[in-house]
This record gives sequence, C-alpha cells and structure tokens, in this order.
Amino acid sequence: MTIHVVDHPLVHHKLSLIRDRKTPGILFRALIEEVGLILAAEATRTLPTESVVVETPLERTGSLRLKSLDPVLVPVLRAGLGLLPPFLQLMPTAKVGHLGLYRDHDSLVPVPYYRNFPPLLEARPVFILDPMLATGGSASEAVRQLKTAGAVNLSLVSLLAAPEGLERLQRDHPDLTIVVGAVDRQLNDKGYILPGLGDAGDRLFGTV
Ligand code: PRP
Ligand code: URA
Repeated sequence: MTIHVVDHPLVHHKLSLIRDRKTPGILFRALIEEVGLILAAEATRTLPTESVVVETPLERTGSLRLKSLDPVLVPVLRAGLGLLPPFLQLMPTAKVGHLGLYRDHDSLVPVPYYRNFPPLLEARPVFILDPMLATGGSASEAVRQLKTAGAVNLSLVSLLAAPEGLERLQRDHPDLTIVVGAVDRQLNDKGYILPGLGDAGDRLFGTV
C-alpha cells in the first residue's frame, strides 16, 4: 500500500482551523474545499498523459494532455461530499459515483444504503473521497464494492487518518493508494479520531 501524507504548510494551517471546535460550519466547509484542492493536486500526480502538438500564437510546440478517459470520483456519503467540489473544479469532466455508508453507532460496522457507479470503472482511475479514515471499516467496504464492480486503479483521499484505519486497509487492500492530510494519534473508545476534528458529516451539514 502506498501512503502519501501531504506535508504542506497550507495543509497544516488549514487543518489547524478545521480542527478548531470554534470554527463555524460555513468556514469549516470552505476550508475542507481548500485543503481538498491541494489533496486533489497530489492525488492526481500520476494520471496518464499523452503527447500532443499545439500551436501557440507564436509557434508549434509539443505539449502534454490528460488521456481522454475521465477519472471517476466516488464521495462516500455524507462527509465525502465535502471533498467533491475541489476535485470537480480541477477535473470538471470527471464521472461521479455515489456510495452511501454509515457506521453503526455501537458496532462501528459500516452499513451500505446507496450505490450508483458510472460505467467503465475497470478502465478509469478511481478516487474515493472521504475526509475521515477512522477504523477503516467504511473505506475498506468502499474499496471492496468498487473492486467488485470492476475498478482496479483505486486511490483513497482523506483529510485525517488514524493508524488503526491505515493498518486495516494495509491488511484488506494492500494495492490501495492513500493520499491524506495528516495521520493522527489514535481512536477513542467510540471510534473517533484523536485529536481529530469531531464528526465531519455533522460539522459539514449542520446536524450536530
Ligand atoms: C464517517 C466518515 C467515514 C466513516 C469513517 O461517516 O465520513 O465514512 O465515518 O469511519 P470508519 O473508518 O470507522 O469506518 P459516518 O459513518 O459518520 O456517516 P456520515 O458521513 O453520514 O455522518
Ligand atoms: N467519523 C468522523 O466524522 N469523525 C471521526 O473522528 C471518526 C469517524
């Protein structure tokens, strides 16, 4: 498994504001989108390109363009929706799949409730978007469902990861690439990331 922790001053700065319990929802959402842009730039570093010739106003030159088959973005509902706008801003023609999962409060086992994936998953890079990787149960289930549907080139993009979640994914999906803003200390006994940022879905959508 490849884990890429995006060690960047802007990510550190924005994460410190995102973590702050006093940060209001409107700013929380905007900051997640701003960090999402940086994570998107990192996560797409290895997208395949092809050579083209373009005519500038001055001369012909060789250049690179993305290969034509668009990537797939799969936000894990709900909190993954917070990362979708920055990814679509950078890749406006990407296809979007949706996956509904929630963690059972007692068992912490993910419960699937919705799924809608675009075609040609096997031929496209797939980016799973979920700001929080806690026990890893939800991410593992998301990867499992996408692999079953044919995806082979899979990356998970998260804001925060717990060591427990990374270990779980290493066991379940050693072929996965993970791009993450920070790796936190541990989980508490309710499966929340410490120090973390609280409940990402609740803070994004005002359901606290
Ligand atoms: C959160 C988060 C992840 C999951 C991570 O979603 O967005 O999907 O928990 O936890 P895990 O790694 O232990 O599975 P939640 O289940 O709270 O659903 P919500 O986004 O709808 O609130
Ligand atoms: N989901 C969240 O939103 N926050 C956590 O700390 C763990 C799971």
